[in-house]
Amino acid sequence: MSALISRAAGPLKGVAVAPGDKSISHRAVIFAACAVGRTTISGLLEGEDVLRTIAALRAMGVAIDRQSPGVWRVDGLGVGGLCEPDRVLDMGNSGTGARLLMGLTASQPITALFTGDSSLRRRPMARVSDPLRTLGAQIFARSGERLPLCLVGADDPVALDYELPVPSAQVKSAVFLAGLNAPGQTRVIEPQPTRDHTERMARHFGATVTVRERASGGREIILAGQPELTATPVEVPGDPSSAAFIAVAALITPGSQVTIRGVGVNPLRIGLYDTLIEMGGDLAFENRREESGEPVADLVVRASPLAGVSVPAARAPAMIDEYPVLAVAAAFAQGQTTMNGLAELRIKESDRLAAIARGLAVNGVEAKTGEDVLTVTGASPDGLGGGRVASEHDHRIAMAFLVMGAAAGRSVTIDSGAMIDTSFPGFASVMNSLGADIREAAA
Ligand code: S3P
Repeated sequence: MSALISRAAGPLKGVAVAPGDKSISHRAVIFAACAVGRTTISGLLEGEDVLRTIAALRAMGVAIDRQSPGVWRVDGLGVGGLCEPDRVLDMGNSGTGARLLMGLTASQPITALFTGDSSLRRRPMARVSDPLRTLGAQIFARSGERLPLCLVGADDPVALDYELPVPSAQVKSAVFLAGLNAPGQTRVIEPQPTRDHTERMARHFGATVTVRERASGGREIILAGQPELTATPVEVPGDPSSAAFIAVAALITPGSQVTIRGVGVNPLRIGLYDTLIEMGGDLAFENRREESGEPVADLVVRASPLAGVSVPAARAPAMIDEYPVLAVAAAFAQGQTTMNGLAELRIKESDRLAAIARGLAVNGVEAKTGEDVLTVTGASPDGLGGGRVASEHDHRIAMAFLVMGAAAGRSVTIDSGAMIDTSFPGFASVMNSLGADIREAAA
């Protein structure tokens, strides 16, 4: 896809549905693949990242078929039932897909070769390969412990007892998924709680998972190994990380009122919404309900004047993917917004901290970065925009700056919208259906 341009076109109004949650979609197909019987998943995100996980599972013998848009049927092979893939598993841009499947294969007697696109091949894998080696898997990676790598799963896996050195749901989930095919109890300690979709999905399929809050903060998660997982329908909620782009666009574009239906509101995912409310944002969660073990609500957002806040480091795991769009909201707020504890942003699909700072700078926003801190000074919308942003092949950088263009005095261009499909296929049409003006930029 070519460059995209976003221009202010008046208030955003109407009802939107966010695409299926990316994290939950990966887990839904993975658990369905490990269950006995046929699972139907609806609302599945049909973004590139999830399609890569589906392709990899197919290569390991799982029958997965698309029935209709968002509705997929998976015939599970049972825990430990994967076949050795006869081709390289190319995980594309997906860190979640790569790390979760490394975990899943580590405790099965198969050899698998993993690779990914240029962004994924730069990302660190030691955080998963270190614990998986302790379990008995052999992992041969190139220097810096990056993809491509070869994983030889353990014949006789031992259940891990592992304390996470970094707050990462991907690492927690890799260890947890490896524990599915290990006898005995797998215990993961996370000093800071991270998204718990894996634990919830495991229970939804019938595994026994015990979670204890620790007096020192954080959680201890215990999985009873080698469970018999039973096929069960899954309804994937809308992704709060994708809804975030629509919500911020509505907040900063005067006169807007938008309802986003069916958004996942897992407490470990909604740090951005807490922050926007602290900034003065008019956001309401209506019609709260539960779907497939996850809390869901309709989100009603009205344009609001925002004020800068200091976002505590402890909140980072609950909004780790939302800093690009929070930085855009902060550019429209009165005063300064400081975001702390951002070290993990440097190793996402791009060095997001640097990419955000560059995007803000070319659009007239004053921002300062430290090793793990970002401070953004708000300005009048009239003075914002006019820049061309390098999206760094990062879907969230691309969408965040298109959101800026919806409310800035001058248009905002991004060099490429190609990666948006990894998490939010149809982003421009959803935004345009609400009144935004995002289109291909003239060459
Ligand atoms: C994810 C966890 C987060 C997040 C990613 C999805 C997951 O990564 O950034 O987009 O589905 O577990 P980390 O666990 O590396 O923080």
